[in-house]
Amino acid sequence: LDDAASRHALLAWFDGVSTKRNMPWRKAWINPREHSNAAQLRVLLERRAYEVWISEIMLQQTRVAVVIDYWNNWMAKWETIHDLAAASSDDVLSAWRGLGYYSRATRIHEAAKLVVQDPATTGLLPSQVDDLVAKVPGVGRYTAGAISAIVFGRAEPMVDGNVLRVLSRQLGLLANVKTDKLVIDTLWAAAAALAKAVAQDGAEDKTEDSVSNRPGRWGQALMELGSTVCTPKPNCDQCPISSTCRAYGEGKLLVSAERKPV
Ligand code: ADE
Repeated sequence: LDDAASRHALLAWFDGVSTKRNMPWRKAWINPREHSNAAQLRVLLERRAYEVWISEIMLQQTRVAVVIDYWNNWMAKWETIHDLAAASSDDVLSAWRGLGYYSRATRIHEAAKLVVQDPATTGLLPSQVDDLVAKVPGVGRYTAGAISAIVFGRAEPMVDGNVLRVLSRQLGLLANVKTDKLVIDTLWAAAAALAKAVAQDGAEDKTEDSVSNRPGRWGQALMELGSTVCTPKPNCDQCPISSTCRAYGEGKLLVSAERKPV
């Protein structure tokens, strides 16, 4: 992924598949430059940040297919973060029933109240990763990166278990990506550099339309690749970035070496 062409290949792949996987929280990016009315823009961003936040927390321990119904129900019940802040704890817990890990629901509810009451935010989630982590209980660096990139278009990484697997294969790291802290930190650093590179590609690409939000698409593309193609048993023949994958390249080398006549 160290050349713009391979990064473009992954984005193009994602643009093709994401229209087929219908996730209700995936919507056209809100480009601030297209809104001259600041009050209107604020309302749109507040709503979108709330939607993406809830979807990302739900998706942390639950499959997409299950989350879709819960997310739709939730949004029908509490359209805005202000509605959620005003809800009763019992109602919030009952909307979460079946998703498991109930502390997630309690923390979301607490966080909604804080973000609505805080004069610095008044309902709009912060756009920067550090502020998100500091001000929103239950939001760690993954969720903060997702909100910052998907909603606000910032060049921030979002690294879940799927992305750890994709990047470790790309880089050819033979390591346990689930437990090795040094490896995990290295992959986060690689993901951060890639997010910046992708944003830079976008700035240089004059043919790209202005609403593309590359960092948001990019992070979701890596996750989507990890959950559908670069799975524990990978489907390398379907992978748009096998040409830059060291695990794939070295695997092929090993196979051809084994097949050499002795
Ligand atoms: N997994 C968690 N969040 C996701 C997203 N926004 N896109 C794809 N996969 C995800």
